Amino acid sequence: IEPAERARQLAVIAAEVSECVACGLHSTRTQTVFARGLGGAGLCFVGEGPGAEEDAQGLPFVGAAGQLLDKMIEAMGLTRDEVYVANIVKCRPPNNRKPSPDEMAACVHFLERQLAILNPEVIVALGATVVQGLLGTTEGITRLRGKWKLYKGRIAVMPTFHPAYLLRTPSAKREVWTDLQAVLRQMGRALPPPKK
Ligand code: URA
Repeated sequence: IEPAERARQLAVIAAEVSECVACGLHSTRTQTVFARGLGGAGLCFVGEGPGAEEDAQGLPFVGAAGQLLDKMIEAMGLTRDEVYVANIVKCRPPNNRKPSPDEMAACVHFLERQLAILNPEVIVALGATVVQGLLGTTEGITRLRGKWKLYKGRIAVMPTFHPAYLLRTPSAKREVWTDLQAVLRQMGRALPPPKK
């Protein structure tokens, strides 16, 4: 679909999301958090759910983890605008706890519709909870990361560590960079020159 029609269809879903009361998370949210970026590059990053900063601003990955995600996007030779960033759940879980399986099940249909419209070449799943919500697998992220999976039998998914984990464990950035390089290869994009 052409970009204007895609934006129109996504706006319809965003409007539905903004009124959603399908799970308990709606009662403590400031606002819903739908997505950021246009997705023109064919790459989507999927996170768990909004944190405090995202709940305040109404945009995903705008807090500390988001700033690290932006650095990763830039290191891939991509811009913030050309990738699409969304979460499994659209409302902030209180105290930044993980979204429960019930909450994810109540919400994931929105993400599924977003992904159907975007039809990305690759989805990067940020952390075990996301892989679980998206693919239904229950393995730990240490085993899952770096290994290609398929979403709906069709779209390549690369599971990797969540940027919030990287903030606590900077040594794991090396593995994430390996995973993101595999994503670039899969998309037929040039790898950025090695840093000196
Ligand atoms: N962590 C997430 O998983 N999503 C956000 O939007 C922000 C932090």
